Amino acid sequence: MNSARGAGRALAALLLAASVLSAALLAPGSSLTPDLDRKRHVELKMDQALLLIHNELPGTNLTVSWSSERCYQCLLQVLVNVSWGGKAGKPSTAAVAVSTQHGSILQLNDTAQQRELCRLEYKFGEFGNYSLLVKHAHNGMGEITCDLVVNDKPVDSNLPVCIAFLVGLALIIVLCLLRFLLSLEDFQNWISKAISAQETDRLINSELGSPSRAGDPHPEAWRPSAAPLRLRCVDTFRGIALVLMVFVNYGGGRYWYFKHASWNGLTVADLVFPWFVFIMGTSIFLSMTSVLQRGGSRFRLLGRVAWRSFLLICMGIVIVNPNYCLGPLSWEKARIPGVLQRLGVTYFVVAVLELLFAKPVPEICASERSCCSLLDVTSSWPQWLFVLMLEGVWLALTFFLPVPGCPTGYLGPGGIGDLGKYPNCTGGAAGYIDRLLLGDSHLYQHPSPAVLYHTKVAYDPEGILGTINSILMAFLGVQAGKIFLYYKDQTKGVLIRFAAWCCFLGLISVALTKASENEGVIPVNKNLWSASYVTTLSSFAFLILLVLYPVVDVKGLWTGAPFFYPGMNSILVYVGHEVFANYFPFQWQLGDSQSHREHLVQNIAATALWVLIAYILYKKKVFWKI
Ligand SMILES: *[C@@H]1O[C@H](CO)[C@@H](O)[C@H](O)[C@H]1NC(C)=O
Ligand SMILES: *[C@@H]1O[C@H](CO)[C@@H](O)[C@H](O)[C@H]1NC(C)=O
Ligand SMILES: *[C@@H]1O[C@H](CO)[C@@H](O)[C@H](O)[C@H]1NC(C)=O
Ligand SMILES: *[C@@H]1O[C@H](CO)[C@@H](O)[C@H](O)[C@H]1NC(C)=O
Ligand SMILES: *[C@@H]1O[C@H](CO)[C@@H](O)[C@H](O)[C@H]1NC(C)=O
Repeated sequence: MNSARGAGRALAALLLAASVLSAALLAPGSSLTPDLDRKRHVELKMDQALLLIHNELPGTNLTVSWSSERCYQCLLQVLVNVSWGGKAGKPSTAAVAVSTQHGSILQLNDTAQQRELCRLEYKFGEFGNYSLLVKHAHNGMGEITCDLVVNDKPVDSNLPVCIAFLVGLALIIVLCLLRFLLSLEDFQNWISKAISAQETDRLINSELGSPSRAGDPHPEAWRPSAAPLRLRCVDTFRGIALVLMVFVNYGGGRYWYFKHASWNGLTVADLVFPWFVFIMGTSIFLSMTSVLQRGGSRFRLLGRVAWRSFLLICMGIVIVNPNYCLGPLSWEKARIPGVLQRLGVTYFVVAVLELLFAKPVPEICASERSCCSLLDVTSSWPQWLFVLMLEGVWLALTFFLPVPGCPTGYLGPGGIGDLGKYPNCTGGAAGYIDRLLLGDSHLYQHPSPAVLYHTKVAYDPEGILGTINSILMAFLGVQAGKIFLYYKDQTKGVLIRFAAWCCFLGLISVALTKASENEGVIPVNKNLWSASYVTTLSSFAFLILLVLYPVVDVKGLWTGAPFFYPGMNSILVYVGHEVFANYFPFQWQLGDSQSHREHLVQNIAATALWVLIAYILYKKKVFWKI
């Protein structure tokens, strides 16, 4: 596998080169997106357009209200009043900045009569200049027309993302070609090796459960011991989730689809955390089984699990309470929940569950038998019973817990959503439980619905109730680990089971959400970690394993570079990227702070830097284990 290793190294180097190159291409000064003179009338920010409203109705004052199409059942918010100037034929004008992230709904009323004159839906473009002409139609019927005119065309704000994507793609293609040309001989040897089924089986067998070979780097932090399990696809998947997480946490170029959804729905940013939880479940099972197989004591393992969870929670509390934005904090204001805290609790519950009920992996399943086909599920019935009971608790609390002042079973964002009827009900039971048990001031103060839905109450996306569903997510990851070990000799059996889980969970999601964003019984929601969010994301996770396992482990077509390296050092990269987020060179002074392009360059560079750091540490065999 030396050629593959070498190629991995080359791939890492070239991907870094790719990000540097795309950074250079997109760098400040190059004029891919024209800069606008935004100093007149209204100061336009990122994702805004200028709208000039011309009131040409004699004797009528206009009230213009606005809402985003993405804001589900929202009250319209008054944007501006355009009074009648007084002279006929001389319209009075108001200039406003409108959001361009999603489509806009505009309603124009007669201020005095509170009567709707016209209503329009339009998707404005970033930094565009538009005019809305409100006047009487020339047919003498007294009808009123609202015409939208484009004065200056908007810029294409997605262009930098496309360029970065194409540069990355081009470099990967070049790299594959290079690898192909340079090691043609190696490559052929290695193909013939990969095709031989016996060889494949031997590889997988020797890489599962066999004692660690000398010179093997120690595996990463999540594992309770220096376990010898080498499933590269697991580390690669973790690395993919982690790299995406670093990128979106650093801002993701300030694009809305790299930020968390306002309430219901999925964006790129919503994908990464559950995947991380899922793959943590898989690692827990793989490492724990190997420790137990080598005669490790369950009692000692329990102690280590408890200590590790405690450390994760403590580290998490330190990390979510930085002083640089809010000034020095005290215990009264410290946030308690957070990403590492949730990981710690999830880890504890799932690891203890497996520890209590773990059975030795049966050898009979090594050869396909029909009685074995569901053994990975049936042999862990006590765990399933416990997890399903927990899920029952989630459903019961979510849908039947009475919340003062709010409808029972409320799942909405509150604020101006649901026509403003429940402004303080953000998150229903989940929000209520956190506010009751932890207190407002110990929760996250800027939840994602605050902008679009104008919510006022504190709400924590990593709250107590959602942790139940993250346990379910990790447990589905454990299931993936069981499939790996129970059917380790039958690649086909593993892949069929992954595909089956992917479809099964996907169908549950479709049923729960009615294949819609907002209309389902349980919509997909990152803030609540709703049940459908878990089924959807674990369905995706099984799909990714379905692709990665044959490509990375069975055939060895891809080493997993460069994602493999951060995946091997996940704690270090996670803690490091949080702590050093505001340090140079992860962040620097931008020439134009309202430019997606400059933010994107900065965020890609910072992410690439963390990949590079992870690579160097991997080479030096430095792994942060807790
Ligand atoms: C617009 O006019 C209405 C009615 O006169 C008033 O209540 C409201 O505050 C005004 N809004 C703005 C943004 O000026
Ligand atoms: C329109 O607004 C102006 C100034 O806000 C006010 O003086 C005028 O009386 C209003 N006209 C009507 C018809 O409401
Ligand atoms: C505009 O008119 C509609 C119906 O004509 C009314 O329901 C709404 O409250 C009005 N909005 C404002 C801001 O006056
Ligand atoms: C927008 O267009 C209008 C009409 O062409 C023009 O008068 C105004 O100066 C433009 N505003 C900006 C900020 O470019
Ligand atoms: C919501 O909370 C705010 C501040 O906490 C309070 O002023 C307001 O009255 C509350 N609204 C309702 C409907 O309870």
